[in-house]
Amino acid sequence: MQSIVALQRIISEALDKRTFPDNPISLYEPISYFLGIGGKRLRPVLTLLAADMFGAAIAESLPAALAVEMFHNFTLMHDDIMDEAPLRRGRETIHTKWDVNTAILSGDATLITAYQLLAECKSTQLAELLKVFNKMAQEVCEGQQLDMDFEKLPTVSEGEYLHMIRLKTSVLLGAALEMGAILGQASAQDRANIYAFGVNMGIAFQLQDDILDVYGDPLKFGKQVGGDIIENKKTYLLINALQLAKGDDKKELMQWIETTDFEQKRKIERVTAIFDKLGLQELANQKKIAFAKDAYRALDAIELAVEKKLPLIEFAQNLLTREH
Ligand code: IPE
Ligand code: IPE
Ligand code: MG
Ligand code: MG
Ligand code: MG
Repeated sequence: MQSIVALQRIISEALDKRTFPDNPISLYEPISYFLGIGGKRLRPVLTLLAADMFGAAIAESLPAALAVEMFHNFTLMHDDIMDEAPLRRGRETIHTKWDVNTAILSGDATLITAYQLLAECKSTQLAELLKVFNKMAQEVCEGQQLDMDFEKLPTVSEGEYLHMIRLKTSVLLGAALEMGAILGQASAQDRANIYAFGVNMGIAFQLQDDILDVYGDPLKFGKQVGGDIIENKKTYLLINALQLAKGDDKKELMQWIETTDFEQKRKIERVTAIFDKLGLQELANQKKIAFAKDAYRALDAIELAVEKKLPLIEFAQNLLTREH
């Protein structure tokens, strides 16, 4: 059985080896830049952990794992345009360092790289892998569209929010794991359970992301703290603030959401103060823990010895308490 650290190393070495053409440099340089500035490589590690757990060889599983990471990077390049985000992994985003058109096309080329990698998978498994991958990819687009639509809505229910984050974030973690299970020729039941583990962990992961966007340490987070507040993102914190705030706090919150002419620092400070008063960080934490419990239940149901599941449990624990 491989350790998480060992798998991370295998992935970064494989990514380093994967070079892009020289021309046009304006297309490929941003991709190399983006892949080179770090990233936790969580999703390809999940694919390899699942593959290893079900007995697949790591070397044969690498193309699928790398495809998952390429897809993730493609979504981030475009997500940063949509969210007008200046920072990613502690560095400038592509559309800031270059321009929006560059970030669109570099993202497209990164997505194509994902499919090139998938095409390297064993032909006997390719159809199944593509089915899972394509379903996930379509759902991520749906989730991103809902995320955009929700910015403009006055209120969003908890159910609508959870549906949106399941699509934009969680299904990718689920699919990364299920693809590993396919590589390891797991049973349909085990595939469904590992997918459910990933999706529930993915929801917990996005809840932690919403928390860090407000309460993260700017030196560790790597993204702009308060970015979601500036954009009126309907995060778990904001949807609950809209329900729970009363009187002057509610009035002030509505004003910050409606005004288009504001000083960013001031809006972040004031909205955060309202979140603090309502105890929303703790509320979000509780929700995160509830989804982690559901995830562990699905992991329990997988028909393998508990020792085989330990790396995934360790991985999940790290996700829940991550600071970046
Ligand atoms: C960021 O994912 C996108 C979300 C779903 C919140 P990560 O936090 O895994 O990003 P990197 O790859 O490590 O930068
Ligand atoms: C993550 O949403 C979903 C995708 C990138 C598909 P966020 O917009 O919250 O991710 P970050 O915070 O920019 O990483
Ligand atoms: Mg986004
Ligand atoms: Mg974003
Ligand atoms: Mg975020």
